[in-house]
Amino acid sequence: MGRTIAIANQKGGVGKTTTAVNLSAALAAKGKKTLIVDMDPQGNTTSGLGLDKNDLEKTTYEVITNEYPIEECIHQDLFENLSLLPANRNLAGAEIELMTVDKMQFIMKESLNQVKDDYEFIIIDCPPALGMLTVNAMTAADTVIVPIQCEFYALDGLTQLIYTIELIQKSLNPNLKIEGVVFTMYDARTNLSLQVVENVKSYLNQNIYKTIIPRNVRLAEAPSHGLPINLYDARSTGAESYGLLADEVIENGGAE
Ligand SMILES: Nc1ncnc2c1ncn2[C@@H]1O[C@H](COP(=O)(O)OP(=O)(O)O)[C@@H](O)[C@H]1O
Ligand SMILES: [Mg+2]
Repeated sequence: MGRTIAIANQKGGVGKTTTAVNLSAALAAKGKKTLIVDMDPQGNTTSGLGLDKNDLEKTTYEVITNEYPIEECIHQDLFENLSLLPANRNLAGAEIELMTVDKMQFIMKESLNQVKDDYEFIIIDCPPALGMLTVNAMTAADTVIVPIQCEFYALDGLTQLIYTIELIQKSLNPNLKIEGVVFTMYDARTNLSLQVVENVKSYLNQNIYKTIIPRNVRLAEAPSHGLPINLYDARSTGAESYGLLADEVIENGGAE
């Protein structure tokens, strides 16, 4: 049975989508059948993997609103071993529409249960908010990976994020765990990046991945080519580090 991991942080621009796309692609390249679920109305994961997001009729939104079964909405093997449930701006409406639905927090979980056996990993890219979409992702997930950008305000909002995860553990998903924290956009030329890493380490009592994702321009370029980093520039530091992160995630256990 697949392991479901939500990539979450309510801050925008910290590297959630970059991590969701490239961790998924690295897992797929290591032979793990992987599904990536775009839960962000911005649809950056979807466009970053080469789909025209505005041209899609069957997306995460149609899954959440029960218009189509999830199997029909998944783009199977978009790349080798990598499938995608895409999203676009329609998904923004789901946040409000969900409010009137019975057991609204469990909709994604129930949908993913139908396909969980088909994948070794399901990676969910969350929106930059702690609303109903993120709650759905965390209710469906086994674990959460929190990307933290190496910048001065890195710690801001982390308390609230961890509090939200604890609330979900208490009420909706008792087995939810924080799988780990991954530092992103590390700039070896500045002391600030190093200080942020030291700071977060001393403040957070959580598993922190040994792999630190460097700032690498190839990672920022890859989405405009519709490719994950390992297919865009396999020899870049970005590709290498997401490969190492994938090794750690696999070693963390649970993936049969
Ligand atoms: N390691 C990195 N090196 C260089 N640019 C990065 C890196 N990680 C993310 N970016 C860029 O930073 C921006 C925000 O990243 P993104 O993954 O979209 O964050 P989020 O999904 O949390 O909003 C994007 O333009 C992305 O290309
Ligand atoms: Mg994003």
